[in-house]
Amino acid sequence: MSKTYYVWPLGCQTNKSDGERVATVLEKLGYERVEDEHDANVIAVIACAIRQSAVDRIYGKFRAWEQRQQAGDLTTLLTGCVLPHDKQKLTPKFDLVFDIEELPKLPLLLAQTNVEETVNLRDQMAYFDIQPIHNSKFRAWVPIAKGCDKFCTYCAVPYTRGRERSRPSADIIQEVKELIAKGYKDIHLLGQNVNSYGMDKRRADGTSEELTFAQLLETVATLPGDFWVRFHAPHPRDFTADVIEVIAKYPKLCKQINLPAQSGSSTILRRMNRPYTREQYLKLTDDIKAGIPNVSLSTDIIVGFCGETEEEFADSKSLMEYVGYDMAFIAQYSVRPGTVAARRFEDNVSHEVKKERFRELTDVLEQTFMVNQQPRLGTVDTILVEKYAKDHWLGRNQHQVTVEFPAPADANLVGTFQQVKLEEVEPFRFKGNLK
Ligand code: 5AD
Ligand code: SF4
Repeated sequence: MSKTYYVWPLGCQTNKSDGERVATVLEKLGYERVEDEHDANVIAVIACAIRQSAVDRIYGKFRAWEQRQQAGDLTTLLTGCVLPHDKQKLTPKFDLVFDIEELPKLPLLLAQTNVEETVNLRDQMAYFDIQPIHNSKFRAWVPIAKGCDKFCTYCAVPYTRGRERSRPSADIIQEVKELIAKGYKDIHLLGQNVNSYGMDKRRADGTSEELTFAQLLETVATLPGDFWVRFHAPHPRDFTADVIEVIAKYPKLCKQINLPAQSGSSTILRRMNRPYTREQYLKLTDDIKAGIPNVSLSTDIIVGFCGETEEEFADSKSLMEYVGYDMAFIAQYSVRPGTVAARRFEDNVSHEVKKERFRELTDVLEQTFMVNQQPRLGTVDTILVEKYAKDHWLGRNQHQVTVEFPAPADANLVGTFQQVKLEEVEPFRFKGNLK
């Protein structure tokens, strides 16, 4: 039988990065990647527990998979973020369920489930040492830390990914160097709380055996080569002034920061166990704007959290108007079983109200985006080109705003930096021409 695999990462970039590492291990075992899940005899799901809708998408696949599993034509693997509540229900439907930290043992686990006949134990390695097979030739995700200690009351992550653990900076820098040598241009440093990087390595006397996040950024930004670096996601509480200074100082550090607010209301923030107030968050955005010229801010924000009143929602809206984001990942609150919010608070904002609040914030975002981009019209911007689609080229500037421009289809521009004059703007996209 042919050995083919398909990796299906749901949710965030961390899952995409984990998916690339799962692919590495499967390819070591002789599996070949296919682009269509119907052609695969191993499907690896990298699950996301953030919202129920992501879990439901997995349930939606079972019927199609079941027949093929019974015919011995398909093996399904489940890893990623799975809450204990879902694990119970999902486990019987999958041939193998494993924790992403157990990925180095995947060959052994497959042998135990009789999917693979033999296993070479010498192939085992630590999770972070697995060199990922990158799906993109120019963009790569580099994990710098795993897990989260923050326990926001709505969030599944501390339960699915465990405590915060920083990856050794020497390994991170080595991986980034290798990516640059291979021509990668857009390096994304990943963690649930990137700016508490190294804090888990503090000694009793308060010193740390690791670099701080600002030092790590500086080290990466001073590597030779032509590339961009960005990071996801910082926590407003741990965002220190030295990080602002470093971003301002080095051109390779993108002037774009996703700073999850989650809510603009101090009372909701307290219920969310987000340890800052609206005023502290706004002060931080003021400091970032003052310290980093031409900075672009984006955010994550949740509407309809338990008990969110009209007034509390209005605070989120006015926060978005005040900050003026270029992008926002607006989520309707979804109860996650086992979290503090699920136990302690009632999910009492109706689906309709959540939808309406979502729509209102989307309108605010469109307006702030358009206002922010107006002064950029007529300027020439550096664009990292991503693909050719429907007779134009598409790329993104360092603010991650999409830019489309015409050029011959065979121009071979993917993964190159180009200078593009920005001539028109519409929500979330510029149109322009090569300079
Ligand atoms: N419901 C809705 N959105 C959530 N997020 C995390 N947990 C939930 C939840 N239970 C959002 C947060 C976070 C992003 C990754 O997902 O905004 O920053
Ligand atoms: Fe979840 Fe909060 Fe940790 Fe982000 S900081 S992963 S929202 S618990």
